[in-house]
Amino acid sequence: MAYNYLTTRRDGAVEYLTLNRPEVRNAFNAEMIAELADWAAATGGERDVRAVVVGGVGKTFSAGADVTWMAKTIRYTEEQNLADATATSRMFAAIDQLRMPVIGRVQGAALGGGAGLAAVCDIVVAEEGAVFGFTEVKLGILPAVISPFALAKIGRSAARELFLTGSCMLCHAVQGTSAQGRRGPDLTHFASRAHIGAGSVANTPEALARWIEDPQKLKPGANMPSHFLPPADLAALVAYLETLT
Ligand code: HEC
Repeated sequence: MAYNYLTTRRDGAVEYLTLNRPEVRNAFNAEMIAELADWAAATGGERDVRAVVVGGVGKTFSAGADVTWMAKTIRYTEEQNLADATATSRMFAAIDQLRMPVIGRVQGAALGGGAGLAAVCDIVVAEEGAVFGFTEVKLGILPAVISPFALAKIGRSAARELFLTGSCMLCHAVQGTSAQGRRGPDLTHFASRAHIGAGSVANTPEALARWIEDPQKLKPGANMPSHFLPPADLAALVAYLETLT
């Protein structure tokens, strides 16, 4: 079958599967999901494929769900939404259950469904600086369809934390989440630190809340984006960080 959003190439016993929607950073839509399911069904039965390498064209492995597609699903009926979610879940399960080893080749970012795709790979090889994130929480939703696969890959403890804290983990490592944290300081023992913002501000819950909201205000030139969170979420996040001794 010819695909619109994927390219495939066979080199000896290795099948190369590449997401090919660079204009939207290889985001998933219903068609791409159907193509991936079709590819998995066709490839699963191929005895001479001994390994699969999954990648994405361009600078980003996959940015997750296509927002245009997601916006459309708001008007779907419950049945249509269920059908959509079921098709997506079956696609991930089909790749997860392939008999041959699947190697993920990740550059740039693997976010949301992209992180889900990385989770169904047996081995993930990531470029220096590549980030993995469950950024759904920023949109007010939780990782749903991908969560069983993410749980199986990273474990319940890390998943609970990552699903809730979303974007912070793109840049910061925190206890046991060593896959990320290349761009900001490791926050593992954050509460034991006397100062934050490279020594400029005392580490108090108030300063920390202000820092998360607008780092530039406390440290002009700070290399961290502002996060204006609902007050209750900010308070919960501050309380959590203050437990990291
Ligand atoms: C795009 C990357 C990025 C994201 C996303 C990010 N940070 Fe940061 N963060 C940084 C960088 C870089 C610094 C160091 C800034 C500096 O000192 O100039 C930093 C510093 C911090 C510090 C101060 C640490 C110290 O020892 O001084 C805290 C606390 C922190 N971030 C918490 C968070 C939280 C909580 C979130 C999510 C709400 C978050 N960060 C999201 C990049 C990021």
